[in-house]
Amino acid sequence: MAVDTSPVETLSEEQAKAELQRLAAEIAHHDALYHGKDQPEISDADYDALKQRNDAIEAQFPQMVRTDSPSQRVGAAPAGIFAQVVHARPMLSLDNAFSDEDVQDFVASVYRFLGQMPDNSIAFTAEPKIDGLSMSLRYENRKLVTAATRGDGTTGENVTANIRTIREIPEELPADAPDIVEVRGEVYMAKSDFMALNAQMEAEGKQTYVNPRNTASGSLRQLDPKVTASRNLRFFAYAWGEISQMPEDTQWGMVQVFKRWGFPVNPLTRRLSSVEEIIAHYSDIGLKRADLDYDIDGVVYKVDRLDLQARLGFRSRSPRWATAHKFPAEQAFTTVEAIDIQVGRTGALTPVARLTPVTVGGVVVTNATLHNADYIEGIGNSGQRIREDEHDIRIGDTVIVQRAGDVIPQVLDVVLEKRPEGAAKYVFPTKCPVCGSHAVREKNEKTGKLDSVTRCTGGFVCRAQAVEHIKHFVSRNAFDIEGLGTKQVDFFFESEDPALMIRAAPDIFTLKVRQEQSLTKLENIEGFGRVSVRKLFEAIDARREIALNRFIFALGIRHVGETTAKLLARSYGSYAAFSEAMQAAAPKFGDAWNDLNNIEGIGEVVAASIVEFFKEPRNLEVVQRLLDEVRPLDAEAALTTGSPVVGKTVVFTGSLERFTRDEAKARAESLGAKVAGSVSKKTDYVVAGPGAGSKLDKARELGVQVMTEDEWLELIAG
Ligand code: IVH
Repeated sequence: MAVDTSPVETLSEEQAKAELQRLAAEIAHHDALYHGKDQPEISDADYDALKQRNDAIEAQFPQMVRTDSPSQRVGAAPAGIFAQVVHARPMLSLDNAFSDEDVQDFVASVYRFLGQMPDNSIAFTAEPKIDGLSMSLRYENRKLVTAATRGDGTTGENVTANIRTIREIPEELPADAPDIVEVRGEVYMAKSDFMALNAQMEAEGKQTYVNPRNTASGSLRQLDPKVTASRNLRFFAYAWGEISQMPEDTQWGMVQVFKRWGFPVNPLTRRLSSVEEIIAHYSDIGLKRADLDYDIDGVVYKVDRLDLQARLGFRSRSPRWATAHKFPAEQAFTTVEAIDIQVGRTGALTPVARLTPVTVGGVVVTNATLHNADYIEGIGNSGQRIREDEHDIRIGDTVIVQRAGDVIPQVLDVVLEKRPEGAAKYVFPTKCPVCGSHAVREKNEKTGKLDSVTRCTGGFVCRAQAVEHIKHFVSRNAFDIEGLGTKQVDFFFESEDPALMIRAAPDIFTLKVRQEQSLTKLENIEGFGRVSVRKLFEAIDARREIALNRFIFALGIRHVGETTAKLLARSYGSYAAFSEAMQAAAPKFGDAWNDLNNIEGIGEVVAASIVEFFKEPRNLEVVQRLLDEVRPLDAEAALTTGSPVVGKTVVFTGSLERFTRDEAKARAESLGAKVAGSVSKKTDYVVAGPGAGSKLDKARELGVQVMTEDEWLELIAG
């Protein structure tokens, strides 16, 4: 399996960054195979494991969520499902300038290339660099025929149906437009629309999106244009591709023409000549940035005259006649008013800095995560110092906050000179602020180092853990109960009315009966109408039967994510078998324990965590109450009846020649077999390719049936 399983908690920032990059590329690759060619290379389980690891790392390092992260794709990721479009003219990128000097150099290089004295005779346009995604719109005989994304610059994706839902993009051009016109520009989502969408997601208890750009991109890459239509995307025109007859001979003139044709063009575009004017305009746009209803990440300068552009031409990927003057990373000074501790589902105590509100790159920031006790102290995940000595974070401190790439704000550094007299070091609590139980830093059994996370030991006693657990239980990949979002769960949890309160997951399923027997009626409570109450109860009843893997995932066992839950469901088949085996595995030795550890993809830490869960009487009691209300369905029984290998455990070893290991595994699993990583008494078959070594020996020793790849293929062919 391609998934790295080293614990996420032990990753350094650098390792996390590298891995997130690798995961984004790898998942995109599998998406393309899956959707585009219908030829997946890995099993669904392995795919889920990749996504889950990506999520886990992002949860640990929220500041590192990449703009191309798989978690940021809207809906199913349909990479590769769109037809390809070869651009009539390539879509290029721009060089960057980061300082005033860089801008001076750019302007000087234009004069130099053209063999002219720098005498301010050349005009440049300056226009905001919109942070969206570039789009090429092709009109033939004045009708929109194709809309294509940039793709790799040469070939993009045909998203015409979705683009047609954007009201700002004209379907037809006026009679004086040339026969062939490619108008290029940026599709984006307004900040106000983005915030409204996120508010709605939050109200529905769904995961929110990170920034408008990713959301716009995901919204466009939907198979169903209705989804795109609902997102209210927008457009600015600023460039062009093929045009059968040029209507103007300057950049400025072209933009005016686009405007006349009905395209939105950016009102902050100017035509300027001197470097001083250009830089003044850049500063001006920088000041306006926060008030604009769209994200921009710089200002683009272009030589205005098209004949000069033609003479200047291109370097390999970017024009010599343009550059993008980027805005610096978004930082601001503010003060730490308080440090609060939030308690999560697994009891993790997360410190949050409450900040004097400050605008950072157009967003008002009031909170920043401080991650853990070490972070406050100035120590990174690998024990390295991340700030200078004494730059620990204290209440009252003036700090520098940064929003990098539009993600969750970070406290970068402390301004020591401004530290108020007598500001004391922050003392991390040793008791849970919610339930008062001891809060401890566990020792990592493998590394022997203290875990960076401080955890409340209260378990179900802790109200914070209990309510977060319910939120997990109803979440999208668990019971997925529509109408029970964060707000609603908080409401039911806080309620003191016996007819309304939900203090643990099983209470969800008794809510309706308790309502019926009481005078308190949910529909009379603000925020719940008749219809929404009916729908809520329908949604709850619809989950009285549930897939075993979802059931297991919903239990919220530490380290058991979606992928592990699927592995467990597939391996044990029924809840009864699963729970019985986990009780039997409790002593952490013997057959049941070994079987659990033999499941490929389940390591010792995970196994121990599951077994611990089943040792806790309170957990068993909650599960039992749950089982009185809901029925977990047996896993995959229907799919695999008649398969010759259903329920069998198989181990692949050696270098396989007839199929890849992932392919072999996926195929075996789809036929109901379990694929294990090591040979034990429980192994039914060992499929050995050339070069098989110790596993083959072990199989012979234990008398397990050994076969070649061809024999295996024959067996599964039935
Ligand atoms: S001009 C040959 N103008 O920036 C130059 N690009 O880094 C074509 N962008 O892919 C691009 N605002 O998506 C240009 N006013 C603007 C822009 C802009 C945003 C994006 C565009 C392009 C990227 C290049």
